[in-house]
Amino acid sequence: MNTVKTVRELRAAVARARGEGKRIAFVPTMGNLHSGHAALVTKAAQRADFVVASIFVNPLQFGAGEDLDKYPRTLAADQETLLQAGCHLLFAPTVEEMYPDGMTVQTRVSVPQLSEGLCGASRPGHFEGVATVVSKLFNMVQPDLAVFGEKDYQQLAVIRAMVRDLNMPIQIIGEPTVRAEDGLALSSRNGYLNAEQRAAAPALYQALGQLADGIRRGRRDFAALLDEGQAKLVAAGFRPDYLEVRHALTLKPAQPDDRDLVILGAAYQGSTRLIDNLCLHLDEPSA
Ligand code: PAF
Repeated sequence: MNTVKTVRELRAAVARARGEGKRIAFVPTMGNLHSGHAALVTKAAQRADFVVASIFVNPLQFGAGEDLDKYPRTLAADQETLLQAGCHLLFAPTVEEMYPDGMTVQTRVSVPQLSEGLCGASRPGHFEGVATVVSKLFNMVQPDLAVFGEKDYQQLAVIRAMVRDLNMPIQIIGEPTVRAEDGLALSSRNGYLNAEQRAAAPALYQALGQLADGIRRGRRDFAALLDEGQAKLVAAGFRPDYLEVRHALTLKPAQPDDRDLVILGAAYQGSTRLIDNLCLHLDEPSA
């Protein structure tokens, strides 16, 4: 696996692969890779002949006071993970390479409706930063397909909408969340948790599961259900940011007769913000 740092080298390596008739897959990341990222690369390798990954901690998607500076940079270990998972080329640019004119970037990509609410409410500008950097990376790599984790559900919805609305000829594949044995969704931010917080953290996914059970049993009093879920999170030592039931595709607040739902939650253990979600497809209308 080659590692390149400039757009020029990246384009040359991808052009060589294309010249050999290879189908190109792309997995964008911010590094500090875990088995969830490895699963994205494995999926990419199943669907294409040449897998490009990127590692770039994108300043444009971090708000003031967020963890941009302390976000773990672990390039050597990440290179090993990518190699083992079947990656052929790693693009690991500097901030200057990605934003040569500095961070007051002129052109930005925004996907307004889907970016509002949920994580967008507590992280203003975050999804504009994500959509902008992913557009840039897509233009640099020009892949046939790209793989993203379903753990970042709202991000995946924003990227799907961006690709559709801007007619980008890229197939977007969502890969299911990889979890620890106790159910906690794998995340680079889990590394910030101390032992006590880590022990409490699976309560987020448990709360989503209990909400899903309630809905499966026919409950549609979403507000009351969510209040109960929030109380469970607080009892487990979380400071909830949001807990919501939404339509799985539009992310609009769930209506009682919606069949495709997603339950999304974000909550803090100490200063660490964890997110998770659970999709729910109801076959029969409730009685
Ligand atoms: O999900 C991430 O790691 C990032 O938001 C992404 C998609 C690599 C853009 O910086």
